[in-house]
Amino acid sequence: MKDIFELKEMTELIRTVTNMYAHGWDERNGGNVSVLLDEADLKEHLVLAGAIREIPTGFEAPELDGKYFLVTGTGKYFKNVQYDPASNLGIVRLKDRGRTAELLWGFSDGGKFTSEFPAHMMSHVARLRVDPENRVVMHCHPANLLAMTYVHDLDEKAFTRTLWQMCTECIVVFPDGVNVLPWMLCGTNEIGEATAEKIKTARLVVWSQHGIYGAGKDLDETFGLIETAEKAAEIYMKIAHLPLKNTITDEQMHLLEDRFGVKAREGYLN
Ligand code: 13P
Ligand code: ZN
Repeated sequence: MKDIFELKEMTELIRTVTNMYAHGWDERNGGNVSVLLDEADLKEHLVLAGAIREIPTGFEAPELDGKYFLVTGTGKYFKNVQYDPASNLGIVRLKDRGRTAELLWGFSDGGKFTSEFPAHMMSHVARLRVDPENRVVMHCHPANLLAMTYVHDLDEKAFTRTLWQMCTECIVVFPDGVNVLPWMLCGTNEIGEATAEKIKTARLVVWSQHGIYGAGKDLDETFGLIETAEKAAEIYMKIAHLPLKNTITDEQMHLLEDRFGVKAREGYLN
């Protein structure tokens, strides 16, 4: 049997959360990440029979029965993950229509998965329906995106267009745009359901006055999505109070669509 730390997703998750912390996106225990694992890969690194313990999830998601996730723990600091992955991370398998998570590895200090598990699991279900390759859901608190939700109109088209106008490559990286939720109580099934609904049509969902969710096929892609949106928000926050002299026009956006073979979200460009 191979070592669990040789599992590709394990190495990548540890590196990614360390990098997220370094970017300032995850103060204290802020942020959480979940990665859908492949059973055939996992069984080379871990005995899959039996469970260390069972943890109720508090929601139903029958589509996830038998699926395995590597996920960050609740209350855990991303800055510490690299030094003690076994207490900060866990591997779970879902059963009972998604109502129970069997702990197979990790959370070694008696902890459990993130309080945002409903939003993660419901988002995985929603994304897998539109993209069977989706494996990652990532949540964090990047300062500029968060700041933007205090001063910018929360209309999704307006919010997306502003981000696209801030850096040339935004429309290439997230042509599906950014969906936006109003402030809601975090850690609940309600915000989970609302996030899952929003993440069907865009891989980025802003939680107003809180943070952002991203979804993608791997950790690099998902990190890169958030990184690009956050860069755009940073530029917005640097210029929003200054007289605007130039912008990226819709004609230029259409040139980008042609050059990079992407299609902007329907109705978002003139
Ligand atoms: P957890 O520590 O439970 O993952 O919560 C962090 C967070 O960002 C809540 O939205
Ligand atoms: Zn959060």
